[in-house]
Amino acid sequence: MRILLTGAAGFIGTHIGEVARERGHEVVALDMFLDKAHWPSAGDLSTGSRGEDGSRGVERLDLRSDRLDAVLEGIDVVCHQAAMVGNGVDAQDLPDYAEHNDAGTARLLAAMARAGVRDLVLASSMVVYGDGRYTCPTHGDVPPAVRREDDLSAGRYDPRCPVCGGDITWRLIGEDTPFLPRTSYAASKVAQEHYASAWCTLEGSRAVALRYHNVYGPGMPADTPYAGVAAIFRSAIARGEAPRVFEDGQQVRDFVHVRDVARANVLAIEQVAQHPSGLTPYNIASGTTFTIGQMATALAAAAGAREPVLTGDYRAFDVRHVVASPERAKAGLGFEAKIAPEHGLSALATDPLRTR
Ligand code: UD1
Repeated sequence: MRILLTGAAGFIGTHIGEVARERGHEVVALDMFLDKAHWPSAGDLSTGSRGEDGSRGVERLDLRSDRLDAVLEGIDVVCHQAAMVGNGVDAQDLPDYAEHNDAGTARLLAAMARAGVRDLVLASSMVVYGDGRYTCPTHGDVPPAVRREDDLSAGRYDPRCPVCGGDITWRLIGEDTPFLPRTSYAASKVAQEHYASAWCTLEGSRAVALRYHNVYGPGMPADTPYAGVAAIFRSAIARGEAPRVFEDGQQVRDFVHVRDVARANVLAIEQVAQHPSGLTPYNIASGTTFTIGQMATALAAAAGAREPVLTGDYRAFDVRHVVASPERAKAGLGFEAKIAPEHGLSALATDPLRTR
């Protein structure tokens, strides 16, 4: 297949390009080399020579450019990874998220309609579910109440039932869970899914949205305000510092290896045309849960680094526990993660980081 891959020089895009080529696909690779995601000289590597970031043959192109029409000629499927990621710093990030993620996607979809390209694989995220789903012994399946400042400052980190205020326990999230975006990035990921759905309706086309859990592995961006916890801990260890674990370290996540995420994308690329018209979402997770404290301990032990420090700090925008069910991806795409987090996280201790 001839694939247009956006965000091809990024952390996940680089791995998708490699797996797609290994599977015999032709990859037309684009990236705008956004400074916030790439170190400033990365653009110099975009002309065909292989650089340290693996950006061989990646063309520098902003999705908002008119050149997109020419690039889409003869493309079978688009794999859209280009996005500004992370939680963001503050409200001043909102326009950047909207321009790169919302406007970029809208323009890509419009160009795909002009070029007659009917199949899209979209990078989405678990962040669309916000605080996740919980079970209240009295009120059943509930979205949690937003955590209260007085609870957090008193060291009560678990959310409460939105109806009775009592204790609730987290449950696996299925793809039909309502959206509850809590950050600028989450809002832009929800918007991308909505734009893709609208494009499917207008064009009778097909989209598969892959909602990634916490992705880690070789080539992760080093510690920036836009980095996730695995990159932050790995960068701290590289500086000889102990990982700093927030809250009580009992927050639950699912860490999925970037190589598995790349495989999920290639499976979706190969099968999106067999999907019904419309957008089909899949959670992409390893199926194994870890607390942040366990993850920090495993990473520090594998690196022979200083033991993690439990700080008791908390961030207002953080969600407490969020874990996806990987079952639909298994049934619909034949995707199952192969790299167990205990092995992948040990390897992360020595995996190279992308640095500025
Ligand atoms: C992360 C990503 C999000 C992505 C989602 C699913 C970022 C910033 N967040 O969200 O974009 O869509 O996974 O793939 O990339 N923590 C610490 N110490 C630190 C930093 C964080 O203990 O130094 C804790 C946080 O309090 C939180 C947990 O680690 O409980 C995860 O944090 P983080 O990776 O930032 O965000 P996610 O919500 O998991």
